[in-house]
Amino acid sequence: MSRVTAFTSMIRVGVNGYGTIGKRVADAVRLQPDMQLIGVAKTRPNYEAETALQKGYPLYSAIPEQSHLFAEAGMELHGEVEDLVSESDVIVDATPSGVGADNCSLYKEHETPAILQGGETSDAVDESFVAQANYDDAAGAELLRVVSCNTTGLSRLLEPLDRTYGVDKARVTLIRRGGDPNETNRGPINDILPDPVTVPSHHGPDVRTIFPTLAIDTVGVTVPATLMHLHSVNITLDTAPTVDELCELLERNPRLFVVPEKLDIEGTAQLKEFAKDSGRPRGDLWENCLWKESVAMEGTDLYLFQSIHQEAIVVPENIDAIRALVSQKPAAESIALTNDRLGIHSRDSYSTSQRSDTAQPADD
Ligand SMILES: NC(=O)c1ccc[n+]([C@@H]2O[C@H](COP(=O)([O-])OP(=O)(O)OC[C@H]3O[C@@H](n4cnc5c(N)ncnc54)[C@H](OP(=O)(O)O)[C@@H]3O)[C@@H](O)[C@H]2O)c1
Repeated sequence: MSRVTAFTSMIRVGVNGYGTIGKRVADAVRLQPDMQLIGVAKTRPNYEAETALQKGYPLYSAIPEQSHLFAEAGMELHGEVEDLVSESDVIVDATPSGVGADNCSLYKEHETPAILQGGETSDAVDESFVAQANYDDAAGAELLRVVSCNTTGLSRLLEPLDRTYGVDKARVTLIRRGGDPNETNRGPINDILPDPVTVPSHHGPDVRTIFPTLAIDTVGVTVPATLMHLHSVNITLDTAPTVDELCELLERNPRLFVVPEKLDIEGTAQLKEFAKDSGRPRGDLWENCLWKESVAMEGTDLYLFQSIHQEAIVVPENIDAIRALVSQKPAAESIALTNDRLGIHSRDSYSTSQRSDTAQPADD
């Protein structure tokens, strides 16, 4: 039974944890015609709390014992995290890894379904989630997990390939960014780390929380970069499509941006620059970015490179996860609505502006 009754057609959403992911999800919630942002929870009155207030987002204290810090900093609180949870139809928990699992008892106490992020383990939740793969499985769940940026990127690519050609075996090397641009304490600064040094990395098993029977091995390397991850992908398919057929399939999916040769984009820095120049908020790339020139077939072996903007790729998935949990909207409708409101379009109409008839976040 949906928590969103006939009395209220708007889904009331609370965001607990207003950092890299939480602030982007809050902005995206505000753009949806069927959602109302109840507020965001912060542990302390820093610059992110200041910008939340500038945007008109009601601010809640995530740690009641620290509520006085907000008053001392002259920041008005709307309440404490428990109030946010009880006032919301669904909570998006975007707290640091491990904190989300600790918060689950609070969500259960208030019978408020919650969406955790990829830093949590799959056993903390009822289902792991990627919209185009398993939207319908979320119905009735209390706790959902939007999988990590890398797992989301791999799942989005594998789903149409497996559905159309069959995937015999996927092998992926993940070249991982050392930290997000605002993470001053991450690295490496001057090294290339096998990470993890053991093979396979955890990403393959994480993909199998979405596709339980898929054969996939992943290895990871961490490099001194902050902008995006890069995946070197090799997938053995059951059949051997042409490169043109493959590209046509991938280009039909708006959440896969097949980067055309004509744009002369050489790497992740220019991808991000393209997004910024195009007016994307924060230079966000919500799509997998696949270099069209890299798509190659050798027999039934597919090779390609794709880049994943770790700060942004899970944002549309969180929006769809909200609807999957507490609305009756079918997957295709939710995905289309999310794409439309964010400004995610297929290749020929690649647009980077969000809808103009909606309030824009203040710093866009
Ligand atoms: N960044 C990525 O690349 C990425 C990509 C995909 C998924 N994820 C996952 O998304 C989740 C969040 O990651 P993130 O990168 O957004 O982290 P983040 O930038 O560190 O943001 C999390 C925020 O939560 C706040 N916080 C800390 N303790 C809290 C508590 N007890 N209650 C409420 N808020 C608390 C912190 O802000 P204050 O203490 O200032 O309030 C912090 O800024 C993790 O599971 C992560 O693995 C991250």
